Amino acid sequence: MKRFLLVLGSNWHLSLAEIDLIIRNPPFKGRIIDYSANIAIVEIEEGLNPKTYVNNLELLQFYFGGILKIAEILDFIDISKVKSAFPELVVSYKKIKPFRTNISKKLNDLLPKVFPKIENESIFFAVSIYPNLYIDDYYKSILVKHFLPFLNENFSRLLKERNARKAIFYKYPQRNMETGNLNPIFPHHVIRYNLLEENRAEIIFGFTEEGCYIARTYTVTNPNFQKKIDEKRPFTSFERSIPPKFAKIMLNFLNLYENKESKRILDPFCGSGTILIFAYINGFEVYGADIKNKYVEHTIKNLRWVGKILEEENIPNFKERIKNIDIKDLINIFEQSSFDGICTEPIFGPFYKQKPDFKDAKTLLDTKIRPTFEELIKIAYKLLKPGKRLCLTSPVIETVENLEVQLPLQKIAEKHKLNLIPIFKKNRIFSKSNKLLQLNLNSLKSIIESKKNQIIKRKFYLFQKLDNNK
Ligand SMILES: C[S@@+](CC[C@H](N)C(=O)[O-])C[C@H]1O[C@@H](n2cnc3c(N)ncnc32)[C@H](O)[C@@H]1O
Repeated sequence: MKRFLLVLGSNWHLSLAEIDLIIRNPPFKGRIIDYSANIAIVEIEEGLNPKTYVNNLELLQFYFGGILKIAEILDFIDISKVKSAFPELVVSYKKIKPFRTNISKKLNDLLPKVFPKIENESIFFAVSIYPNLYIDDYYKSILVKHFLPFLNENFSRLLKERNARKAIFYKYPQRNMETGNLNPIFPHHVIRYNLLEENRAEIIFGFTEEGCYIARTYTVTNPNFQKKIDEKRPFTSFERSIPPKFAKIMLNFLNLYENKESKRILDPFCGSGTILIFAYINGFEVYGADIKNKYVEHTIKNLRWVGKILEEENIPNFKERIKNIDIKDLINIFEQSSFDGICTEPIFGPFYKQKPDFKDAKTLLDTKIRPTFEELIKIAYKLLKPGKRLCLTSPVIETVENLEVQLPLQKIAEKHKLNLIPIFKKNRIFSKSNKLLQLNLNSLKSIIESKKNQIIKRKFYLFQKLDNNK
């Protein structure tokens, strides 16, 4: 059994759901044993082969859309011990000194695990602290201003005591240290400073309500690859297009991890093909459709371009797989019960510059949006194999009255014999005392994603066609 610390993306609900869904099943089986708004602590029981360990982690990282870093846990400090060493109010330094000495001993013990060879080596390291929540006062006033310098100075000193030739640490901007508004280093820094290489490391101190997990980073998301695919592809759509990380998360929600090359995935509203591109990169057999011929051609060209980048020997004939057709006619061209997953972002309505009023938003949803979603759900039932899933996003419109208007998707799905799958399972999540960290299971049947001041938000849903044999 191995324990890992996973750094979550900005929508931590989605990231936690993604992790939980991936590790419910082989090849990597395990569970989330603790979390905060920034990290998840994961115990993997099966699936990690010690010989191909780092490759396995890279594979896991490659699949995740909402995970920024994967680090192996080396040690843990109980929260009471951290707070005794770094209290909010220092009354007597004499009292806190023994607690700090204990932490220092722990740091010394874990050094050989991070750097197998220290003597005569030039070592460079970066310390990253992930708090429960960035708004925590304890993070701003104590962890950034006192704990971080303590860790840097102690690691440096301890490395020199072990005869390192050099022991240099990553210096965060002074201004951020002083104000306490500090972000730990980003994945691209980890790559830029070669922190995954010998004699170099990122050491993470990740806080939850229980304590501080100390971990060494093994893999990070490759922002350059994702960015290149998203921005450099021949055609990008200037209409609404889904960010790659969400496309990846949605594909993971389909729960198809083995023999991907034999799994057929469909996006019936493919636009310029973001979801299909990431499905193709993940190894799926991809199919798509769009009502506009222009988008069908863009998707085909984009997919071919990706095939060339991946140096695929046999690029499929995408012309046969991506069709110019209205959702309601899809059943005429694809065989019934032939897809292993449908993943899509359908229509979201106009781009509002100002919030509409409730009546307008409701009319738009009922008359323009709902029929298309209803059609999608009806057709998904026909096209999916039994037991397989439909993952979709649906619009939530914020109105001038500060109300949220949305489609009754669960009801629509039930009418057409698709079951809603709650994105979180009750028995796999435990409680947190901080209200901001609690997962309200009722509201987590589906998950909302929104940016500040966004009028139309995205809601992620997952449905399944009943498997009559089970
Ligand atoms: C939100 S976009 C999809 C974006 C895509 N997921 C991406 O990231 O590139 C929705 C697409 O649905 C297509 N569409 C709208 N109504 C449709 C219908 N009735 N049948 C099929 N496609 C439709 C539009 O042409 C548009 O390209």
